[in-house]
Parts: sequence; structure tokens; C-alpha cells
Amino acid sequence: MDRRSAHVREVIPGARKAAERADGTVTRTCAPVAGAKLSGGRGTVRRTRWILALLALTVLLVACSKTAPQNTMNPQGPTAQTEKNLLVLVLWPAAAVFLVVEGGILLISIRYRHRKDRDRMPPQIHGNTRLEIGWTIAPAIVLAVIMVPTVSTIWELARQPADAMQITVEGYQWWWGFRYTDPDMTVSYGDHDAIVTADVMVIPAGRTINLSLTSLGGGARSTSGLPDHEVIHSFWAPQLFGKQDVIPGETNHIVFSADHPGLYFGQCAEFCGLQHGKMKFRIRALDETEWQRWVANEKQKALTATDGLAQQGMDLFFGTNGVGGQCIQCHGVGGTAASSTAAPNLTHLAATTHECFAGCDFETFNPDGTPNIEALKAWLRDPNAVKLGAKMPDYGLTEQQIDALVAYLYSLK
Ligand code: CUA
Repeated sequence: MDRRSAHVREVIPGARKAAERADGTVTRTCAPVAGAKLSGGRGTVRRTRWILALLALTVLLVACSKTAPQNTMNPQGPTAQTEKNLLVLVLWPAAAVFLVVEGGILLISIRYRHRKDRDRMPPQIHGNTRLEIGWTIAPAIVLAVIMVPTVSTIWELARQPADAMQITVEGYQWWWGFRYTDPDMTVSYGDHDAIVTADVMVIPAGRTINLSLTSLGGGARSTSGLPDHEVIHSFWAPQLFGKQDVIPGETNHIVFSADHPGLYFGQCAEFCGLQHGKMKFRIRALDETEWQRWVANEKQKALTATDGLAQQGMDLFFGTNGVGGQCIQCHGVGGTAASSTAAPNLTHLAATTHECFAGCDFETFNPDGTPNIEALKAWLRDPNAVKLGAKMPDYGLTEQQIDALVAYLYSLK
């Protein structure tokens, strides 16, 4: 009998009565029968509550994965498949080790637990040379066996085929930029620079892609004129490839391909500041015909606005009439004077494949395909109000200016 149940018996009249009945006298010391029963009941209730809470949590967590677009166990390309094969291969020995170790701990702590009638110390095996050697060698053998497929997979995935399509992935705070550096992927105007997109990486399905990953900081520039906020990110699209660090001043690679046309979700997997959790991206894999159409469109320079409101927005964007002009300090628009690379390139912002913006925090289009004007308006009104920490400042635009800018931006097909 512990002190707690004695206390419970003191303060609960029912328990006291039960104690009186049990031994026939009123006593201030413990009544073993009643007290034991009471604390046992409480423990059971508590245990049941825990079990119910865990069950509820399990149901809740399972509910999270209803559509599971970022499921490593559902690979959609050879790289993800190779990685999954290794994962499964290692999972079985790991599960066996887990069962043996945890099972042993459970078994021993139940079987040899302290009992009242058992006072003698169990035999002490500390310093048993045979056991020590055994449990040092066994894990070493397991690790050595697992090392063979692991190292060969690392080598296999590190191979960079010469004919792979080259795309440079640029990590910024907090969005992803994509630069298509193959010679046949340059724009058809100006200096024939690479096609550049943000947020959505469009690729041809079935083609091997070699990504060069690098971190280029945020929208703001330091006083030295160099990019600021350079931090480490991690590029990860679970259905197509595993995580790879994106490090300032370094170039890492991911070689992958998508088996089928489709949409694949990805996200930054290394804490990189306030909006790390919302530093998302999408990969749109197209069939050959659609891919060619996409490339042809991306090679074109940005459309010039012809509609009245969109024209006003364009003037504001470039500061043509002495008003505005802040946008071009960071954003680039192909074939115009706006050539900055500090913020997402907006040349084809409203192309149907560019389905999300601001780190894929917002949908560019509504489910019915119409422009998601409200989202872009909210973004222009005050970027930090809808995405805390966003590097784009609030320019104090009037509602009329916002309408004009939205009209211009949605004309950039
Ligand atoms: Cu970028 Cu986390």
C-alpha cells in the first residue's frame, strides 16, 4: 500500500466506509483491501484512457495520408524505385534487430522484475568477455552486410549520364528557381539565355534529367551587391527522388526521370528560415507533344499588354510613367528591360503549367481554370500578411493599382 492510496482513502468518504467494513474498525492507517481495489481501478481507467488516446491519434495520423502525394513508398521513377528497394532491403534486418533487442528488453524486465519476496541480487554478468565480444561483432557483421547494397546504390545514383537533360535548381528564401541550361533550351530573343521558371519544374516524361543544385539566397541584396540570405536547403520530391542538400557555393546533383506524365509534389526538406515549411514546388511531367509545345511557348518573350487595365499594370510594373517600377528591381520578364534574377522570373507567370506561385503557397488558377485573382491580390496587398517573412515588401499599392498589376500579370501566358 502506498501513501497515495492511503491519502485517497482519507479524503473519499466511500473509501473510508469500505475500509471500516473491511476490518470492522475505524483506523487512520491503510485498509489493504479497500485501498488496493481503489488504486487498481484508477490505474485501469488511466490506462484505458491512454489506449483510447493512442487509438484516436493513430486514426488521425492515418487520415493524413488519404491522397499522400508525397509518398516515398509509391515511387514513380527509376531513382525513387532504386531508393525504395534499398529502403525495403534495409528495413527487414532493421526490423529483426528491433524485435530481438526490444523483445529482449521487455522479456527480461517482466521476467526478472523486482518482487517483494525476492531479496537476493540476480547473477551479475558485467564484464563477461564472451558476451561483450558477441554483441560487438554481431552488429558489425550486420552493418558490413548492409553496406554492400548501400554503397553500390550510392554509386549507381551518383552516375551522371552524358546525354541527360541539364536543369539547374536554385534555392532561394523561400522558393525554387529552375534554369534549363541545355543548348537547345535557350530563349529565342536577346542573348539566348536559358529558359527560366519558378515554383514548377516542367520536364519531359521518360527523359533522364540531371539536376545541378545550388543555393542563391533571397530576394534582398546585401549592401555589397551580392545575394543575401544564402542558406542550406534540401530538394525533395518523394515520388521521384530522395533528399539532396542545396548548399551555397556547392553544386550537388540529382539524376532522375519520371516514368509517366503527371504531377509530382516536392518540398524543401532542410530548415531554412521562417517559411521553410512552405517552400514547396511541383514537377509537371509532360508527354513529348505537350513538352514540345511548352518549350516553344517558354522560348517566346513576354507578351505586351494590349488591354487597357493590363497596360496600366504594365506601366506600373516598369515605372514607365514615373510611377511604380519597384517590381523590376527583383523580377525578370523575358524580352523586356526587367532582367533581375533576385525574385521569380515572371515571363510566363500565367501559363497553364505554372500552376502555383510564391513557393507554391498559392494556386495560380481556380479549380475551374479561371485566374485565382483573389490570391494574387492578397499577395500584392501585403506579401508578409499571407506569407510571413516573404522577401517581397509591401509597397502600399492602392486597390486600383493592384487590379491593374493583376491584369498585367495574368496576361503573361
Ligand atoms: Cu528551403 Cu527549407
